[in-house]
Amino acid sequence: MSDAAAALLLVARPAPGVLLLTLNRPDKLNALSPELLGRLAAELDTAAADRETGAVILTGAGRAFSAGADVADMLARGTEAYTDPARLSAWRRIETYPKPLIAAVNGYALGGGLELALLCDILIAGAAASFGAPEINIASFPGDGGTQRLPRLVGRSFAMQMILTGERIDARLAERKGLVSEVVDADALLARAIALATLIAQKSSAVTPYAKRAVRAADELPLAAGLRHEHELVVEAYGKADRAEGLRAFAEKRPPRFTGQ
Ligand code: COA
Repeated sequence: MSDAAAALLLVARPAPGVLLLTLNRPDKLNALSPELLGRLAAELDTAAADRETGAVILTGAGRAFSAGADVADMLARGTEAYTDPARLSAWRRIETYPKPLIAAVNGYALGGGLELALLCDILIAGAAASFGAPEINIASFPGDGGTQRLPRLVGRSFAMQMILTGERIDARLAERKGLVSEVVDADALLARAIALATLIAQKSSAVTPYAKRAVRAADELPLAAGLRHEHELVVEAYGKADRAEGLRAFAEKRPPRFTGQ
């Protein structure tokens, strides 16, 4: 990988079990160029296979989380910029990343930037964050999951309002609508994200992906099917060594020693 490609994504380990990924194209408000999206997907592939990683935080350098798809690339390549198989594969890999993913939204989360945040399992925002689907302003509309995920989170009317007007909303309104679970001072955002990720990373990394899958199924399945799926996942997770260790540790009144197996 070239130095330029590597620099698009900052990778850090701020606490045990916690991986911090920072989108790093601040001069372009972290617009999601194919290279940046590819870097992110590749880093998540590595993290998925890494036993040491229990939770991942995604944030942006500078004024934006991400201002969305790269308009320059869209101008240059037209429809191909959207249908590019490498780009679609990157989205799919982020979407199916199995471990808990936290979005620490520091600034603009617009268009594809909002859709990227919507792929995360927990969204928290700094007070300066804003959210929007401005695609309609350039005669487009969300095409990386936004039309499906946004209404599931904020309801149809408010999602329609965002997608048809392109108006931005601030972090507090995003919180009231259930788009984010917490808003904190801008300078406390990363610390809060790391604290949440640390709590998650201390659990069994063999079991947290099951919990993620079960909750995610609620987006997709009718209740009866979702309940069946939950049951199957719980039975499967019972087979994990960490599950037995968790029970033993409780009985022995000591902290569990999870191995991720
Ligand atoms: N793709 C490519 N470049 C982008 C971008 C995007 N989605 N969003 C911002 N940039 C670039 C700008 O072109 C500018 O680059 P330049 O300095 O080389 O001209 C730089 O990032 C800073 O953006 P700028 O527009 O000057 O900042 P601002 O503070 O005046 O405005 C926004 C901020 C977010 C309101 C504005 O950048 C914007 O509307 N961006 C597009 C958002 C969008 O429509 N996303 C969906 C795309 S489908």
